[in-house]
Amino acid sequence: MDLEIKIIRNEHPNPKPQDESALGFGKYFTDHMFIVEYTEGIGWHDARIQPYGPLAIDPASPVLHYSQEIFEGLKAYRRADGGLQMFRPIENANRMNQSAERMCMPPLDPEFQVKAMKMLVELEEGWVPHMEGTSLYLRPTMIADGAELGVHPAKKYLYYIICAASGSYYKNGMAPVKIHIEDHYVRAVKGGTGAAKTGGNYSASLKAAAEAAKKGFDQVLWLDGRENKYVEEVGAMNMIFVMDGKLVTAPTGGSILPGITRKSVLQLAQDKGFTVEERPISVEELFEAHESGRLTEAFGTGTAAVISPVGLLEYHGKEMHLSDGKIGPIAQDIYDTLTGIQRGEREDPYGWVMKIS
Ligand code: PLP
Ligand code: COI
Repeated sequence: MDLEIKIIRNEHPNPKPQDESALGFGKYFTDHMFIVEYTEGIGWHDARIQPYGPLAIDPASPVLHYSQEIFEGLKAYRRADGGLQMFRPIENANRMNQSAERMCMPPLDPEFQVKAMKMLVELEEGWVPHMEGTSLYLRPTMIADGAELGVHPAKKYLYYIICAASGSYYKNGMAPVKIHIEDHYVRAVKGGTGAAKTGGNYSASLKAAAEAAKKGFDQVLWLDGRENKYVEEVGAMNMIFVMDGKLVTAPTGGSILPGITRKSVLQLAQDKGFTVEERPISVEELFEAHESGRLTEAFGTGTAAVISPVGLLEYHGKEMHLSDGKIGPIAQDIYDTLTGIQRGEREDPYGWVMKIS
């Protein structure tokens, strides 16, 4: 797609956060955003990078009523030599289009999406933090626009990318998380929208997360929506279990987000000589494997969370303590390799990294 991207510079840039150890996640937005508009019959038009700021949305816009919305999350990293790079941006652009297909939204050329990400990061160069564990988080988003209350796909859309200088997703960084296995609420069912990165999946998960938080848990592990038996994923992460020294994870069969970190971790693990299994895992199997000492580690994988070790899994009041409350050796090894590649400290034999400068 050969659409020119205009740049309208922000004449009033914001001061950048000084303390990189206190960035948290998704709070410090940069000075510019990318935006492109879609109109039925015309296609995508008016691509530009403009000052970051509020959007003018009609109160009757379908995104506000029917949640016709999708998003992505990826990161740009600063290398030790000061240069910048992104991790697998084309994967996010392709997944954006898969989500678009499920939500009856128009696709946007993946190469064009990546070009827009690259131009935006180049312009916001000064916002990319330096400290280990920090990055510039990019949030590509597509929303239905226009003004019509009928329930049907919109005729106008906005695709935009915002960026936030970010640190750790969880307040306690790499400290192992406590997870409640949810058996009442469900996140997604086969045939539903679980595999799409659409806002409604996340708002639907808030109540279970809030109830779990009241009981002292950091996250909820969702079970399949049909039998309430097989583990699926956590709010913002896929889950990997180490059983008998093998990496075992739920298959991405339609109700789970096909995570890019998950895919990268499984590839790294295989290349390190581990056996990888993608298959249904019941809660019963997890407890049995834990009791017999065969379940040694559990960790979540995600762009925002990176690798997040699990210290405790709870189901019906029964608790499973893992890795003595520390990150397990396999999770640590994979974390070191993955973040090493992402930050340009390790060789990238896979071609995952896209250099910007
Ligand atoms: N599952 C859900 C529900 C998510 O929101 C995310 C985050 O993007 C993931 C899994 C992990 O996906 P990825 O590794 O592509 O970030
Ligand atoms: C991500 O890991 O990029 C996510 O989108 C997780 C999230 C904050 C919803």
